[in-house]
Amino acid sequence: MSAELEKPKTSMWPRFKLLAKELYEFTAPKGDRRVRQRIALAFACLVAAKLSNLITPLLYGASVDLVNGEDGFSLTILWYILGGYAAARLGQQIFAEAKQYLFARVAQRAVRGAAMQAFRHLHKLSLKFHLDRQTGGMTRAVERGAKGVEFLLTMATFEILPLLIEVLFVSAVLWYLFGAPYAIITFFTVVLYAYFTMRVTEWRMAFRKRMNKADETAATKAVDSLLNYETVKYFNNEENEAKRYDKAMRDYEDAAVLSRTSLAAVNVGQGAIIGLGLVLVMGFAGWDIQTGRMSVGDFVAVNTYLLQLYLPLNFLGYVYREVRQSIIDLERMLGLIDEEPDIIDKDNAPALRLSKGAIRFEDVHFSYGNRPILQGVSFDVPAGKRVAIVGPSGAGKSTISRLLFRFYDPQKGRILIDDQDVRDVRQETVRAAIGVVPQDTVMFNASIGYNIGYGHFGADQNAIEKAAKLAAIDAFIHQLPEGYEALVGERGLKLSGGEKQRVAIARAILKQPTIFLFDEATSALDSRTEKDIQTALDKVSKSQTTIVIAHRLSTIVDADEILVMNAGIIAERGTHQELLAQNGLYAVMWARQSDGFIDKDEVAEEVLHIA
Ligand SMILES: Nc1ncnc2c1ncn2[C@@H]1O[C@H](COP(=O)(O)OP(=O)(O)O)[C@@H](O)[C@H]1O
Ligand SMILES: [Mg+2]
Repeated sequence: MSAELEKPKTSMWPRFKLLAKELYEFTAPKGDRRVRQRIALAFACLVAAKLSNLITPLLYGASVDLVNGEDGFSLTILWYILGGYAAARLGQQIFAEAKQYLFARVAQRAVRGAAMQAFRHLHKLSLKFHLDRQTGGMTRAVERGAKGVEFLLTMATFEILPLLIEVLFVSAVLWYLFGAPYAIITFFTVVLYAYFTMRVTEWRMAFRKRMNKADETAATKAVDSLLNYETVKYFNNEENEAKRYDKAMRDYEDAAVLSRTSLAAVNVGQGAIIGLGLVLVMGFAGWDIQTGRMSVGDFVAVNTYLLQLYLPLNFLGYVYREVRQSIIDLERMLGLIDEEPDIIDKDNAPALRLSKGAIRFEDVHFSYGNRPILQGVSFDVPAGKRVAIVGPSGAGKSTISRLLFRFYDPQKGRILIDDQDVRDVRQETVRAAIGVVPQDTVMFNASIGYNIGYGHFGADQNAIEKAAKLAAIDAFIHQLPEGYEALVGERGLKLSGGEKQRVAIARAILKQPTIFLFDEATSALDSRTEKDIQTALDKVSKSQTTIVIAHRLSTIVDADEILVMNAGIIAERGTHQELLAQNGLYAVMWARQSDGFIDKDEVAEEVLHIA
């Protein structure tokens, strides 16, 4: 995902302006006056802290001059000066803390806003987008982007802005008290320092980028590998997995070492610039003392100003690098947010007006990329009727269900529910109407009760158990030590294929949809359980419009119509009896599945499907 999300390199300033705008919108959403007040107050505290900071060197210098006086000094005055000194330092501390306090919530709120927006958006993007991406890398990008928001805000308010204010204040004071050369040298030392740091850091960023890329690759590989834990074991590929992971980690190691060693160049250069600045300013001060234009106290004050100013400069390289990095991270996250969903509602699309859920496919053509799958599929499922779709694996049966659910749009033709094109109404209303039991069910890593209850958020335990009973999974759950609270493991790996299918069925029943869509929903069950569930499904879907994609023909013999898919078209259609009479594809399939070998055949298939 990394390469395509990185934006073309445009010049820094417009990018920066755009980011600052986005950042501001996350931070101070429109209409949130309290946040804006908080920001203003935090800013006032910052200025106050810096002003207090400006007084301390002067008081320090004054006390030096006082004790250094020719003919003794008054202890009382010294106490006053020292008291003022302490008060100024304390004031600085208090204002700085107040700013911190005021700003913490602002920053965290912005982080939350940014992360939420990205998360929401990821769910809006199409199935196609998600199948093309790697989840590990994507969540990293969001996580980093949100951190980037926090970092940018914190750095801007705690490092960069204070530094700018301090440089300006100190230069002004030096100019006013001691003359232009002090201000000019100080100012340009800082500018030179900053310029040098940025240029060298820029050079070092390349190593940093490599580190991040390697880090992301490693994370993606690790997640993918662990999700495929069982597959890895089936093929004894632990060693190869480790090698793939190690390759990414080695890239990281190399880049990290380069990044660390190049830091030496930064440190030495910075030290030289600071040293030069200090020598020049203090040399000037020495000369001014000799000519009597400056007191020893002034000398001390100037020195203190410089040290006070140069101290935070130490972090400048780090700040610049992290800020640049945060900008990249943030841009990457915004890149995800900018990703246009392919399946979008038309402006002001109305809700689906659902009556009984009659479905019609009209000459539907569909291809994944440029691989044609459906080539002119037309059929009707009249309200309340049951239509079965059968055919060899890969014929495009599941694709029909994905199109109806509007995970994809057909390239040609129309799909209608109750005479409304699914593209003209709001997606959520289409999806609310359909209860799907998909071919492969993935579970949330939560309790089995949660996974069933997912069909209808907020359903009570009674309803959940009722649905579980209908799906013939209730007895199994009761025999678990933790019952409905039992955890199913990541992606539901602790459940067998048949158990997962039953959970998925219970979930769909709980949704109480107008349209049912079963995609080989019972393929992983043994024939006894399948019969039981079939009876239950027939009952719950009796008055519902139902599409059953079936693997075993015995389960659909009494469907109102059976469509036989082959190579992207409907090759045959009719009732079971009609199709047998046609003596075509269906008849052959039926013969193969029931030809006196029904038991042996089914057992063999079960084994295949559960694995
Ligand atoms: N997201 C996808 N991208 C590309 N090809 C796909 C995608 N999903 C399914 N296919 C391909 O489309 C064909 C039909 O898939 P599907 O409708 O799932 O078949 P089935 O009839 O077995 O349910 C298969 O050959 C499959 O490999
Ligand atoms: Mg399928």
